[in-house]
Amino acid sequence: MSESVRICAADDIEFGTAVRVVIDDTPIALVRDSVGDIYAIGDTCTHGDISLSEGFVEDDTLECWAHGSKFSIVTGKALTLPAFEPVPVFTVELRDGDVYLDPTPRFDYQSDVSKEEA
Ligand code: FES
Repeated sequence: MSESVRICAADDIEFGTAVRVVIDDTPIALVRDSVGDIYAIGDTCTHGDISLSEGFVEDDTLECWAHGSKFSIVTGKALTLPAFEPVPVFTVELRDGDVYLDPTPRFDYQSDVSKEEA
């Protein structure tokens, strides 16, 4: 299990936006919703090699700018086509106004599917 690492101050992320961070070669989208809560999901769209953090935050979703698939920032699930596979979800903590992220996926549906198929 990995340790949480400090990413930035929470105030560095504007409400309703996402930023891309890369930890141990894993691209992660840090998403701040419109009320200020912060989530972290895999940054790579499961429909194509597109950075989700370049997309649009709306309510509890992050929309890929390329073809419009929306992903839940809570569960990582793909909510609209053309993407149908989920992205992993990571644990975020706020400590003294700073954002800490555990780069070990909390939910990684693709790994779970792979294990089931093995
Ligand atoms: S690349 Fe993201 S929806 Fe097509």
